[in-house]
Amino acid sequence: MPVLRFPNGFLWGSATASYQIEGSPLADGAGASIWHTFSHTPGVIAGNDNGDVACDHYRRWKSDVALMRELGHRAYRFSVSWPRIFPDGHGRTNPAGIAFYDRLVDGLLEAGIEPMITLYHWDLPQKLQDEGGWSNPQIARHYADYAATMFDACGDRVKKWITFNEPWVFHWVGSVLGIHAPGHHDMAGAFLGGHHTLRAHGLAVQRFRDQVPGGEIGITVSVQAHVPASDDLLDEEAAARARAFNNEWFVDPIVLGEYPAALREQFGTMLPEIDDDDRALFQAPIDFLGINYYTRNLERHDEQGFLQVATERAIGVHTAMDWEIYPAGLYRVLHEFHERYRLPLYVTENGAGYEDETPGPDGRVNDRERLRYIQSHLEMCHRAISDGIDLRGYLVWSLMDNFEWGFGYAKRFGIVRCDFETLARTPKASALWYRRVIEENGI
Ligand code: FCB
Repeated sequence: MPVLRFPNGFLWGSATASYQIEGSPLADGAGASIWHTFSHTPGVIAGNDNGDVACDHYRRWKSDVALMRELGHRAYRFSVSWPRIFPDGHGRTNPAGIAFYDRLVDGLLEAGIEPMITLYHWDLPQKLQDEGGWSNPQIARHYADYAATMFDACGDRVKKWITFNEPWVFHWVGSVLGIHAPGHHDMAGAFLGGHHTLRAHGLAVQRFRDQVPGGEIGITVSVQAHVPASDDLLDEEAAARARAFNNEWFVDPIVLGEYPAALREQFGTMLPEIDDDDRALFQAPIDFLGINYYTRNLERHDEQGFLQVATERAIGVHTAMDWEIYPAGLYRVLHEFHERYRLPLYVTENGAGYEDETPGPDGRVNDRERLRYIQSHLEMCHRAISDGIDLRGYLVWSLMDNFEWGFGYAKRFGIVRCDFETLARTPKASALWYRRVIEENGI
């Protein structure tokens, strides 16, 4: 008997993203994405790795679906690669690209697995980048056309949709820090691009209501628990600024109709004004928020720091990403989001990255740390639900080891091991344990 039982219908499964697992990025008429360009730039990715092969899921999707079924997954969150659908970003569609996702959706449904589609997990068509990327106001319409094409293709069978994965990450890490594609350093461009992303989101939500009656649509954001390093008021304010920047930049306009006040104070006119038309668009009602949670940040006031914040390294145990393992932070952000936005929530990503865990003599991969990580975070989900928070599902990141962006294949988040030489998949101890959790609907 499980000790902690989850509500009936709680959605259990895993998540992946197109560029991280598919491989064959240019197959069957697809256009290049900015991640294809970026990862082929020497020196920007650990080991000069790229997504040319990745997990070869593009060709192995059938056996991957069978594996998910064997592992008892009830849901699968995956993303669609925009340049497979519109090789030039807009204009002509590529039927072969649409057909790939169409087959995948059918395969999942036949296996009894509910698909959840993320429309944008960072692989922007390179052609759109050449036209100015997210800074070009036209992109909102192009995105809405792309979204509508996918609603049309799969909306009869797919009822859960996510417009964007982690806009803070692809704007900040990609366009300001330059560590992700497109590798730019342009702060004003990131705020403008963010504004256009919100328009794109709103336009897609509006089309969704006509095209997919009865479906649910939301957005997924990366959230950290921003915890003050002391009980000094200055540190508490520093943590609130970091929270506004990391967690609230995109969700505030969508749910509350304004950028967080702390961002307006910090960045002034660099942050675009939200006029009435924008506000109506941004606030097109959504059905849920997706939360990707991995770690906490300890924040201290620091006059010299960006946002006058310095993030300190906590003393706790860290994963190989150097991210502190802090399950209570998930509980904290679930409360923060519930209280601030009052929307149903899904944990759309949560998991732990380690170096390769090779099979033992018995062929088993004993990823004990990852298993404990997931378990301790699920306990916090359960606690949040017991408090009355409307948390509807948990999707572990990730189904299998994959291309971890700037880290290449060196950091592994899979509950299934992928051998990048042979491409063989081996469920790790965490996957076998998770299967029991799903079966029993509890821990
Ligand atoms: C998230 C990304 C996901 C994966 C995890 C580890 O920020 O959405 O693609 O890289 O981090």
